[in-house]
Amino acid sequence: ALPTAVRLFEMGARDGLQNESGPVIDTAIKVELINRLSETGLKHIEAASFVSPKWVPQMGDASEVMSGIDRKPGVIYSALTPNLKGLEAAIAAGVDEVAVFGAASEAFTQKNINCSIKESLERFAPVIELAKANHIRVRGYVSTVMGCPYEGEIAPAQVAAVSRELLDMGCYEISLGDTIGVGTPLKAKRMLEAVSQQVPIDKLAAHFHDTYGQALANLYAVIEEGIAVIDASVAGLGGCPYAKGASGNVATEDVLYMLNGLSIETGVDLHKLALTGHWISAQLGRSSGSKVALAMGCQ
Ligand code: HMG
Ligand code: MG
Repeated sequence: ALPTAVRLFEMGARDGLQNESGPVIDTAIKVELINRLSETGLKHIEAASFVSPKWVPQMGDASEVMSGIDRKPGVIYSALTPNLKGLEAAIAAGVDEVAVFGAASEAFTQKNINCSIKESLERFAPVIELAKANHIRVRGYVSTVMGCPYEGEIAPAQVAAVSRELLDMGCYEISLGDTIGVGTPLKAKRMLEAVSQQVPIDKLAAHFHDTYGQALANLYAVIEEGIAVIDASVAGLGGCPYAKGASGNVATEDVLYMLNGLSIETGVDLHKLALTGHWISAQLGRSSGSKVALAMGCQ
């Protein structure tokens, strides 16, 4: 049965902007994006990433972004923290929630965070402990759940094992990342079937990129199985025009249109969201990556 309500977790300011290949986007634009998003009814906004600026230059102003935004009561502003250095900066910046990010693929883990899966989990343990000591909830991402750019097929059992470890270490929720958007609906269901044997379904979220245009179909497949938390990116931000194959999260507007059509509650205003998507796309010099927003126009 479909859920009656879904929590949308907005990724545009983090997963979306981290991949922009042009010059580093002004802090003021990031701040305005987050402020506009917080006025749409979204309750969960990933605002920044406390990672090495050498690895991800676009997120180098994470502290300034956090101190620049208007904190709307009831909205949770979160950030990525791969290690203690990142967590300490995130705490100083006053984030509400943090996330550690691992992967089901060894090769992807090496490329993304420069260590093995085992080492990544060892590194996350003190991050989770310190966050909890500061009463900050920790989310856990697992990347490459339906395929890896370096290893190809990923066994669902491997996704389940890493997810279970992150849950046991204290993550309140595990977000399952189809990082390169290669999944298809039946594959998504099979992956979820394996993971939900290790992690209760109400502690799982779907984080699907739309590289192959399958994200909405895959989301429908997993909400049918009980997933009720969906990560998405306004205007589908994250598509990098210069990196072949790279693509953003599924557009939040497109997910919301589908959920509205299914009478699933989100509390988010589609019109305001589409306007925000048009606005940030214009700032980046392109049109919105959301089909729904394009169809709605700019009114
Ligand atoms: P490393 O080089 O192994 O780390 O990187 P290190 O501890 O040896 O430090 C090297 C340098 O980085 C040092 O500076 C540190 O101070 C600095 P130097 O002495 O050379 O001047 N450093 C930091 N600076 C700022 N903040 C920090 C930090 N940590 C170290 N937190 C590290 C390891 C994890 C830091 C690095 O690999 C990194 O930053 N990776 C970021 C990767 C990333 O952000 N990827 C994108 C996000 S994940 C994602 O998008 C997937 C997701 O959306 C789900 C999905 O779609 O599947 C979540
Ligand atoms: Mg992602």
